[in-house]
Parts: sequence; structure tokens; C-alpha cells
Amino acid sequence: MNTLTSSPIKSKLPPISKTLPILGMVQALLDQFGTLEKYQKRYGEIFYAPKSSLMPPYVIFSNPQAIEKVFTTDPDLFEVGKQSTLPVRILLGDNSLVLLDGIEHKRQRKLLMPPFHGERMKSYGQTMVDVTKEVISQWQVGQTISIRDYTQEISLRVILRTIFGLDEGQRYDRLKAILVDWLDIFNSPLNSFYLFFPWLQKDLGALTPWGKFLKQKRQIKEILQSECDSRRNDPDAFGEDILSLLLEARYEDGQPMSDEEIRDELMTMLFAGHETTASTLAWSFYWLHRLPEVGQKLQTELDSLAENAEFTDITKLTYLSAVVSETLRLNPVVAFVGRQLKQPFELMGYQLEPGTLLLPSIYLTHQRPDIYPEPKKFKPERFLERQFSPYEFIPFGGGNRRCLGYAFALFEMKLVLATILSHAELELLDNRPLKSARRGFTFTPDGGVKMKVKAMR
Ligand code: HEM
Repeated sequence: MNTLTSSPIKSKLPPISKTLPILGMVQALLDQFGTLEKYQKRYGEIFYAPKSSLMPPYVIFSNPQAIEKVFTTDPDLFEVGKQSTLPVRILLGDNSLVLLDGIEHKRQRKLLMPPFHGERMKSYGQTMVDVTKEVISQWQVGQTISIRDYTQEISLRVILRTIFGLDEGQRYDRLKAILVDWLDIFNSPLNSFYLFFPWLQKDLGALTPWGKFLKQKRQIKEILQSECDSRRNDPDAFGEDILSLLLEARYEDGQPMSDEEIRDELMTMLFAGHETTASTLAWSFYWLHRLPEVGQKLQTELDSLAENAEFTDITKLTYLSAVVSETLRLNPVVAFVGRQLKQPFELMGYQLEPGTLLLPSIYLTHQRPDIYPEPKKFKPERFLERQFSPYEFIPFGGGNRRCLGYAFALFEMKLVLATILSHAELELLDNRPLKSARRGFTFTPDGGVKMKVKAMR
């Protein structure tokens, strides 16, 4: 068996973190997918970089058997790790589910799960459709729009309404405004550097990007705390929303969640629950209008729905589902998932040391021509022709850390697409190939997809 630190794999090391870790990181931050493809071409389906000042040693791979092994092995062999998750800690807080390990992760996940699955999740269908209609009612025929601005407005309103049970009033407006402004800091890929290079994180006042980021983060936490306080002081305000659920939830030992835990989880859901959905939806609109035959096929399927169709009838539509899956395949909004080894681990014939960060690459796995022929083409039909295993199609990661909101996100994306396509006719204004641009931790269509509103129904 080969050892990572011995010659066979070391001789294949990508130069990124070997000699110039900072340059390698900058390159990857500016062109993550291009850099991944370059290394895969050069080194194959697994490659490795040694420890650097910025990252622990890490292994990137796209082999489905290796991914299966990682997703099905006892999760206690892994931990989230400190160094590589520093940016997430800064953004969401130490108590975020994303950062918990072992029994803490398990019990917190159990508390957070109910609203995102089953009947409770389905009860949010009406909210999703109502919010979509409200947002697109602002459109005027002939208007030029950036579709991502609107998908973000929709997904943010949906998550705010499901979390807090409200979507108007001063506190809500203020939270929404600060959140949008806060996340827009990362609209500039260069500003994303602040998250990844600790030495840039100096608070030089609210006029500098990092100072502004910290100030807004404090303001958001204050608003979240005052939401918790006012809910506690007014038992009548308890409802079906997620905040009520978290305040009432009890661990198995009968203890409630602390305020800090609740605040960090609210932050996690606000962030994870809308950026990702907004960017994926924007990509779907791009492809549906870039390839009119695909758009037409979906329109025909939507037109076949009965007048009194239920939300679940919409979400069961096969071509709609295939369009959403193909978007998640071709344009993943997250590049990889991470698991750091606590113990020695064998992967694809290599013996890996504790401390190594395993990074199954969503992007590279979805680009494998042996699984997805002509991988650069947007072809929803591939999802009708065959089923892909949970180790070949991994937009939501997998195993015990699989995205908590995956069912919610799929439900929402299908309802939003169906609602918009049934009420508005849009035209793509720029037919050129579109690149993915970094937006903090996630990826989004560069420029937000400019479209024209041709007609409203
Ligand atoms: C298109 C939409 C979305 C995509 C592509 C996406 C993708 C992902 C991925 C790749 C992970 C990491 C999984 C792993 O490590 O194996 C993740 C985790 C997570 N996602 Fe999502 N996500 C989406 C929407 C949502 C929504 C709507 C929520 C709802 C609040 C959400 C909440 C979370 C949480 C809490 C985690 C951490 C889970 C854990 O560590 O146990 N996500 N997501």
C-alpha cells in the first residue's frame, strides 16, 4: 500500500501548497473549478497537497467508490477540523451544526430536522408559491432584470417566513436589509479573500470591507437575540415556525438549547438556506432560456398540469425534477464537502495519516465522462434515462452530514420554477457561455443572469 508521504503520490503533488501556498489558494479562490479540472487532468481522480500555513494536508477525489467509503464509514472516524473551517466559524459561529462533531452533532441535527422534512416541510408549499407571486408581481413588461436578485429575494423571504413566521414589520425589514447587504460583500470574489486569509481579518472600521462585515454580523446577532427574547416574553407569539420549535425543543436530558446555540443555528439556516437555492435557481433559468428546446419541453409539462394540481403534483413532475437535478449536477454551488481524519484511513490504495482532510469533489464527480457522457452539456434527459447512485450524484453531500435542507431546497426550487414559468415569459439577454463566480463559500452565475421580462400572465 502506498503512503501519502512516500514517493508514489508525493511525486504527483500539485504545486499549489507545496511551494507557494498563498498563490495556490489565490488561484483556487479566483477560479476554483478551472483549478480543480487542471489538477484532475494532470494527476487523475485523486490528488493530494501537503500541510501548509493555510490548510492541513488534503486529498481531493472524485471516485464514486472512494466517496461511498467516506459517506458510509463510521462518522466517528472523522471530525470537522479547526483550521479548514475557520472561515465558517467566522461567518456562522462556533455552535453551528456545520461545525459540530460526534454526539453533539447528532443531537443537534435531530432537533433541527423536523421542519425540513415530511408534512411540516410540505406545509411551507403555500408560503413558497405566495412569496414567488409577490416578488414577481413587481416585474414590468419590458423590464431588464438580474434573475439572481429575484431568486435571492424569494429564497430569503421564504426562509425568513419559515424561521420567524413573519415577513413584514420593522424588525423583519431591518434583518432582511442587513443580511442582503452583508452577503453582498462577497459578491466581489476579491472580498471573499477576507474569509480565507486570517491575516487580512483586521477591523479597520466600518468603511473597510472586513470592518463592515463584523459590524453587520454583530447587528444580525443582536436582531436574532431580540427575536428570541421577544418570543420568550410573549407566549402567544409561538407558532409553527422554526424559531418557536427551537425555543421549545429539549435535548434527551430535558435541557433547552442555549441562546448562543439558537442564534448560531438561525444564522446557519439563514445563510445555508437561501444563497444556495437562489444561485441554483438562477442557473436553471439560464439553461431553460439558453436552450429553448429544454425550456419548451418543461413548459409543455407544466401546461399539462390540472387546474387544481396540488403542490406535490408539481414536485413529482419528471422533466421538472430532471431540470433541477441537471442544474445541480452541472453547476454545483458548493465545490466539495470535507471530513478530517481522526485515525489512519485507507483510500484508493493509499494509507492516509490522521489530520488529513478528505475532500470529495462535487464538481469533479459531476464532470466524470464515464458517469455523465458529454459532461459540459446541459441534458436533463440523462436523469430520465438512468438513476445515479448517491456517490455519483452528490450536490447535497452525503452520509451523516448530508445537507439538512435538501428536501426543502428541492421542494422550493420546483415550486418557484413552476410558478414563475406559469406567470412570466422571460428572455435571456446574453447568450454567451456563463461562468461560475465565487460568492464567499458558494458559487453563483457570474453577473446574476440578465433577462428581459417579455410578458406577464
Ligand atoms: C440548492 C440548495 C442547497 C445545496 C446545493 C446545499 C448543499 C449542501 C452541502 C453540499 C452540504 C454539505 C454536506 C456534507 O458535508 O456532506 C450542506 C450542508 C448543510 N445544509 Fe445545505 N444545501 C442547500 C440548501 C439548504 C437549505 C435550504 C438548508 C436549510 C436550512 C440547508 C442547510 C444545511 C445545513 C444545516 C447543513 C449542515 C449539515 C450537517 O453538517 O449536518 N441547505 N448543504
